[in-house]
Formats: sequence, C-alpha cells, structure tokens
Amino acid sequence: MAADKNTYSFLSDHTRIPNIGLGTWKSAKGDVKNAVIAAIDAGYRHLDCAFIYQNEEEIGEALKEKIKDGTIERDDIYITTKLWGTHHSPSRVEQGIKMSLTPLQLDYVDLYLMHSPCGRKFIDDKTFFPKDENDKNAYDDVHYVETWKAMEKLVEKGLAISIGVSNFNVSQMEEIVTAAQVPCVMNQIEIHPAIDQSDIITYCKAKSIALTAYSPFGSPDRPWASDKDPNLFEDPVVKEIAESRGCTAGQVLLAYHLNQEVVVVPKSVTPSRIKENFEALSIKLKPEEITKLKELNSTNYRACAMNMLKDHPYFPFK
Ligand SMILES: NC(=O)c1ccc[n+]([C@@H]2O[C@H](COP(=O)([O-])OP(=O)(O)OC[C@H]3O[C@@H](n4cnc5c(N)ncnc54)[C@H](OP(=O)(O)O)[C@@H]3O)[C@@H](O)[C@H]2O)c1
Repeated sequence: MAADKNTYSFLSDHTRIPNIGLGTWKSAKGDVKNAVIAAIDAGYRHLDCAFIYQNEEEIGEALKEKIKDGTIERDDIYITTKLWGTHHSPSRVEQGIKMSLTPLQLDYVDLYLMHSPCGRKFIDDKTFFPKDENDKNAYDDVHYVETWKAMEKLVEKGLAISIGVSNFNVSQMEEIVTAAQVPCVMNQIEIHPAIDQSDIITYCKAKSIALTAYSPFGSPDRPWASDKDPNLFEDPVVKEIAESRGCTAGQVLLAYHLNQEVVVVPKSVTPSRIKENFEALSIKLKPEEITKLKELNSTNYRACAMNMLKDHPYFPFK
C-alpha cells in the first residue's frame, strides 16, 4: 500500500479528518468516477459528497474499484456526505442517509452534515426542489435542532461515525452546541480570501468545532457565475505570492486554509489539477502572506449566497 501523504485535523469526538478532500459538486456523471480514481491515485483520502449532487452512484463505483484493486481499504478513506432539506423531518433523517449510503455502496459514512439549516417540504423521494401552488419554494419549518437530534441517532446506529453541519451562522451553531448530546464536530462553510467569515470562524474555533472551507477558488463553475465576480486565480496578491514561491495561484488559495488549520475541499475533474491541488499540502505560507490574503475580504464576496432560500425562516446569511 502506498505511503499516506495526507495531514490530518483531530475532531472533538477524537476522530481525525484528512485536511484536503476532493469536492464533487458539479462533477458530472461520466467525469466524476475518473476524478475520484485520479484523486485516490494522487493520494487523496477524503471525498466531499452530498445527496443533492446526484452523482454518488459513480463515486460508489470508483470506491469499489479502488478497494478491489487494493489501492485502499474502506477504513483508509474519509467520506463526507450531506442530508438534503427534504429529509429534515426527524422521521426522514435515516432515509436521508440511506439515500446516500446505497449509491455509495457503503455501510457508514465518516461524517454526515446537515447541508443547511433550511428544511424543504417532502413530496416524494424524487422531488428535491419542491414548489407550492404559486410556484414558490415549499418549505418544511422543522427546526434544525429537531433534525440534529435525529442525526445523533445515526451515530448510535453506526450509519455515521461523526456528525456536523454546513452553512450555519453563529446563533444557529450556538443552538446546536447547547442541544447536542453527540458533539457537532464540523461546520462546512464558504471560505476563501475574498469573504469575511471571521465571526463564525472565531466562534467555531472557540468551541473546538472544525471548519471545512468549501468553494476555495470562489466556485468559478457554479451555474450562476458571472464575469463580474472576482476571479481569485487572477487576483494580483494571489499571483504575486504564487510567483514568488514558484507554485500556482490555486495552490496558494488552498495553502491559505491548510496553514490556518481549516480543512479544504477543492473540486476538480481534471487529473492534472487534482494532483496539483493535493500538492498544496506541502506549501507553508508566511504569516505576512496570510495577512495580505486576508485583506482581500473587503469585497465580502459570497459565491454560494443561497439567495433562493432568502425567505426561509432559518436562512443563515442575514
Ligand atoms: N456545503 C455546501 O453547501 C457546499 C457548497 C459549495 C461547495 N461545496 C463543496 O465544496 C467543493 C468545492 O467547491 P466548488 O465546487 O463550489 O468550487 P471550487 O472548488 O472553488 O472551484 C471549482 C472550479 O475550479 C476549477 N479548478 C480546480 N482546481 C483548479 C486549479 N488548480 N486551477 C484552475 N482551476 C481549477 C475546477 O475546474 P475543473 O473541475 O474543470 O478542473 C472548477 O471549475 C464542492 O465541489 C463541494 O464538494 C459545499
């Protein structure tokens, strides 16, 4: 078996997570299997999945192949996936995780996250963006603390090793922390140099809740991207640091998190980029370089603003 080139963060439930994982949102069917295989071959031991990405079947095929050819055993790879809003009702949470476990061909995931605090009305197992009679989003106002309590039962049942949340703000985190019988180990949020997330980062660190940075490149391939959005790869500060170190802009953007004890999940379906991104693990930025990068947050640019949920009672980004 190949040597493990990963570094790890220790979570408050005494488990550990590889600091870099492969993101899989928008990784199309037909591409994602090869991307996962390329990532495992490059050394990744962490995949960031979600039911709503609708590609877990191919990810499961890739995992099966890499276990069969002896590159990895199940326990060598850390799998995160996420509960979608239509399954927030406590009676549907177990079905929610099984809808990921089945295509992934797994008995358990390492980390199960509530994808956001916002529940959506359940209609059937094939309707993920339910609408009401006026064609507006149809919500389920089940409180996320109730959903959380049902997620705790998944740990008791061995379906998830650890549980956490995603897209939660400070006051929502506080409610989870107060109610939790099983520790909330993670908040997965958008972090890159152009967004100011200092309040939630400070809160999570104070409570020993780890952070995963999603959209570390600003999610340039998201469906609602516009030419007017900042291009982090072309930012002069990022480029200057990359040039001075002989590395790529992408690697600087990943090292930014890795050097601040934040887990990061860059998405790519391009084998050369998958490898390049993994190699960011060896880059050590100077404190003054991190400070310079942090100064880019004056634009407070959010790629995943979840605007379609703005009228939800638990919308997190006020
Ligand atoms: N919890 C949540 O609500 C949430 C929300 C958003 C994202 N996420 C997670 O975070 C992951 C990453 O975020 P993201 O997918 O939004 O976007 P991202 O990782 O910020 O950016 C992905 C884009 O960057 C390109 N890219 C990757 N590596 C590159 C490199 N070295 N040089 C140049 N371009 C490069 C990719 O192209 P190619 O693929 O064509 O190579 C793709 O177009 C997601 O896939 C998902 O797993 C979670």
